[in-house]
Parts: sequence; structure tokens; C-alpha cells
Amino acid sequence: MTTRPILIHPDPRLKKRCDPVTEVTEELRLAAAEMLETMYDAPGVGLAGPQVGLMKRILVMDCVKDPEATPRPMVLMNPEITWTSETLNTYEEGCLSIPDQYADVSRPAEVRVRWLGLDGREAEEHFTDLWATCVQHEIDHLNGKLFIDYLTPLKRQLITRKMEKLKRERARL
Ligand code: NI
Repeated sequence: MTTRPILIHPDPRLKKRCDPVTEVTEELRLAAAEMLETMYDAPGVGLAGPQVGLMKRILVMDCVKDPEATPRPMVLMNPEITWTSETLNTYEEGCLSIPDQYADVSRPAEVRVRWLGLDGREAEEHFTDLWATCVQHEIDHLNGKLFIDYLTPLKRQLITRKMEKLKRERARL
């Protein structure tokens, strides 16, 4: 298995709206498998296409955090939120494209999402807890939105400057 390099903010590809998946090709299946591998390796609970430079509406996630529990790798293509709860939930979010930065973000506590699976079938599920937060965070990525976009401009700028510094340091290695 191969992992793919994760793009670090700021990057123009992380600000773009992704195109819908029109056909589940062998190439896309491979990309999904490598995205899952990249996510587990990071480690993280979710990863969206643009984070590995794949500008398609595809995301992977697995919010089973207990290492003793059975993993639940999920691949969602063209995901659509069909219902959101009025109740909000606040989680301290992070992002593999914004390493080591965390901030509280409030989102609907529960969502219903419809998507296209790798088998070419439509699926729909009701998500709660971390799953609900994660799926919304990843769908945001497909629309060029990051969790820091929910913060004040000052906080966002501070984090962006740190990331620019990190990228300069990495480029020097
Ligand atoms: Ni993210």
C-alpha cells in the first residue's frame, strides 16, 4: 500500500470546490484505498480528496477510535447532507492539512448524509457524535472550506502564519 503526501494549508487546491465523481473508475478505487492508508498512517479520522490533490468529491473516514474495536473504513463519493439537527455540538477540531492546530467548532450535532459508494450504489446514513462532526468537516473540504474558516480572522491569520512558517522549514530540509 502507498500513502500520498498531504497538502498543507495554505494551498490554492484546498480553497477550491471539487467536481462530482461521474464514474467509479479503477483509478478512483485505488485513490480511495490510498487515501484510507494515508489517513490511518497520519493518523487521522477523516481525509478529503483535495488534501491529496485529488479535486473530486470523495472523502474517507473512520471515527472508531478504540484500537480494540473493529475499524470501519468508509468511502463517500458525492456526499450530500440531506438533514441537520437544530442541536449543535462543539468539538475541538484539527485537520491533517493544518498539523498540530486545534480549535473549538460548533456544528449540527446530527446529520443525515446521502452518498455514492464504491460499489456504485447510493447509500444514506444518520451520523451522530464524532462521525457527524467528521463528515461535515470533510464535506467542507470538498467545497474549499477549512475548519479555521469558522474562527475569527485574527485566529485564522495566526494559524495561517504558523503554517507558512512550517512549510518554509519543511522546504529547507
Ligand atoms: Ni481537514
